[in-house]
Amino acid sequence: MNKKLMVGNWKMNGSLAANESLIKALLAGLSAPACQVALCVPAVYLAQCQALLADSVIELGAQDVSEHETGAFTGEISAAMLREFGLRYVLVGHSERRQYHSESDAVVAAKAQRALACGMTPIVCVGETSAEREAGQTEEVVKRQLAAVIHANGHCISEMVLAYEPIWAIGTGKTASPEQAQQVHALLRAQLEAASKQADRVHILYGGSMNAANAAQLLAQPDIDGGLVGGASLKALDFLSMMASVR
Ligand code: PGA
Repeated sequence: MNKKLMVGNWKMNGSLAANESLIKALLAGLSAPACQVALCVPAVYLAQCQALLADSVIELGAQDVSEHETGAFTGEISAAMLREFGLRYVLVGHSERRQYHSESDAVVAAKAQRALACGMTPIVCVGETSAEREAGQTEEVVKRQLAAVIHANGHCISEMVLAYEPIWAIGTGKTASPEQAQQVHALLRAQLEAASKQADRVHILYGGSMNAANAAQLLAQPDIDGGLVGGASLKALDFLSMMASVR
């Protein structure tokens, strides 16, 4: 495994002025990070962020991509379009997309395929609801979500990033305990290994109320290879302190 990977997911936050000051503060605080770093920004700000991040240690990412290649899909953004802005990463299957935009496992798998075909790394998100966890279905749900992506993209598994984000922990302030997260990460690693024999090359990130106070403990788990950070990535000092806690 290379260095750990810390990814900021800005979600639908930001403005031209706020983005500039956040990125400048991050770059000023990050000289030689011990981890890889990326920011997944709203699509309208890709050009601005590409310019601000040029020649820096921070990679650029988007938050979604169309499952279609081109054509009559009003409002959609294709992988080829994203790639023109020098993107390295694109989130696919974030729970907010699955939940509010009815993205099925098959659609998420197709989006990962589009990203890979254009030379970008999909960050595939999986995770259970609190009802599913309480019903003892966590394993079944995350395995089903990952299986769809493996089925469509098995030969490219080592080129993906996986993110385990329990839905009950996203934006709620309730983080999975390091043990709860590690348990699911180990399951996902085993599933990747069974499919590819290359599971040790895949970063498996944890996401869900990760912050400056809990990052070090989560990142110390053997199968947690980094973080997908929402709210805390919008505060430069918090995100910098999380990156500093990476060993
Ligand atoms: P959060 O979001 O860190 O604000 O919980 C994480 C995510 O949704 O990627």
